[in-house]
Amino acid sequence: MDNENHMNDDGYVYNETYEDDGDYEYYYEDPLISLFDVEKEYDNGSVKALNGVNLDIFEGEFVSIIGPSGSGKSTLLNMIGALDNPSRGEIYIDGINLQKEKDLSEFRQEKIGFVFQLHNLIPNLSVMDNVQIPLLHTGMSSKDMKKRANELIAAVGLESKKRQKPNKLSGGERQRVAIARALVNNPSIILADEPTGSLDSKTGKMILNLLMEMHERYNVTLIIVTHDNDVANLAERTIKIKDGRVIEDKYNY
Ligand SMILES: Nc1ncnc2c1ncn2[C@@H]1O[C@H](COP(=O)(O)OP(=O)(O)OP(=O)(O)O)[C@@H](O)[C@H]1O
Ligand SMILES: [Mg+2]
Repeated sequence: MDNENHMNDDGYVYNETYEDDGDYEYYYEDPLISLFDVEKEYDNGSVKALNGVNLDIFEGEFVSIIGPSGSGKSTLLNMIGALDNPSRGEIYIDGINLQKEKDLSEFRQEKIGFVFQLHNLIPNLSVMDNVQIPLLHTGMSSKDMKKRANELIAAVGLESKKRQKPNKLSGGERQRVAIARALVNNPSIILADEPTGSLDSKTGKMILNLLMEMHERYNVTLIIVTHDNDVANLAERTIKIKDGRVIEDKYNY
């Protein structure tokens, strides 16, 4: 049986399944992430960072988000990652209404890997311990946590630095630790805010390849905010934000 994702004229993804009796069956897939009229204000409404965003993102998509500085890209990722609440509107992830969910920390830890501009590494913990943070409270044994952390540290090429503290590392190395930490619990969604922004082109490429490999190998839904058009065009779909609104949403094929 062949199963393929397609898009109809409305930009909606549907599955086409070839049945043994020679017929095709179509069914619409529920989005993994849905935003309905999401608005975000800061400073008692004097700053409108998001101005009514409606968006569906499907499981396994690789989406890039572009737009000028201050247009609301990071705010949008913060909303999807349940790091902050919208002022108005609703967000659903995997059927969960984020505004109604009481314990979002568990949701974040299970489902989402964050690769953000500020790496939020804990300065007095080693690389090894930083990478294991998302595994704490999962019930995993400490032996398995170490094994899993070692795999990811090897994947980002930092075996020789695993006992080091973050302040002894370069910016690119810290970024790689952040990626290892983001991936360690097999998240179904990776949110990356300018993951290559502060890196030289070689390290940037390596980081990007690592993220894309996770996407391809494990069908992780990957959302990358970037200023770099080359990076944006690697994605299957590019969403352009301006003044807190989606002004373009196109598939790159
Ligand atoms: N915590 C905050 N308090 C007040 N205003 C904020 C806050 N965070 C963001 N803003 C404002 O909201 C708007 C959107 O910011 P956001 O960080 O989402 O932009 P961005 O598209 O990620 O920009 P950049 O490309 O520079 O990272 C900007 O005008 C910014 O100044
Ligand atoms: Mg930003």
